[in-house]
Amino acid sequence: MKRAVARHLLYPGSFDPPTLGHLDLIRRGHALFPSLTVAVLRNGGKNPLFSVEERVGLLRGMTRGMRGVDVASFDGLLVDYLKRFRAPVVLRGLRVVSDFEYEFQMALMNRKLDPDFEVLYLMPDERFSYLSSSLVREVARLGGSVSRFVPAEVARRVHEALRPRGAGAKRVAGKAPV
Ligand code: COA
Repeated sequence: MKRAVARHLLYPGSFDPPTLGHLDLIRRGHALFPSLTVAVLRNGGKNPLFSVEERVGLLRGMTRGMRGVDVASFDGLLVDYLKRFRAPVVLRGLRVVSDFEYEFQMALMNRKLDPDFEVLYLMPDERFSYLSSSLVREVARLGGSVSRFVPAEVARRVHEALRPRGAGAKRVAGKAPV
């Protein structure tokens, strides 16, 4: 096994939208590693609320002032993207037991693809263990406030993105409702 000092933490995800749970994990990861890249997945295959560029912008706003933290996007295999970094370690959150099965499968597949693949799991604060981006989208879509679940600017943008503009308004990620 190759031994190297791990210098860079990489936090991949879809972040549609980024939540206070994601921010909690970024803070925890950053407390352990001086440099951290939040990487927004491009080829997510979901029907996104925000474009990748919008999500990158939201995450940059959330992490402004955190030295050593940057935000990027990637597509293709995670293990290929990791090759750009020196001795990278992937950060993932474990909120509830059910996360474990998915993460376990993903980690082992990644390790099959690249034997050097290494991942660090951190638990977000229990206040956020129920939180997910799709629940935030659903609450907002059904008229509830999401201000307790996401940073203020993200809440504003979520509500703005979902605000109906006339009957039949439909939003395409990155564009105003038409
Ligand atoms: N707080 C709040 N919500 C959290 C959270 C936290 N700390 N951690 C995860 N979540 C939520 C997310 O909001 C998301 O919610 P949603 O499903 O309701 O939208 C859900 O948990 C999934 O988390 P996310 O981090 O977005 O992971 P993902 O499953 O969408 O993406 C990748 C995981 C990006 C790491 C993975 O798909 C990947 O590596 N893709 C690249 C292609 C590849 O290499 N494939 C082979 C992998 S074996």
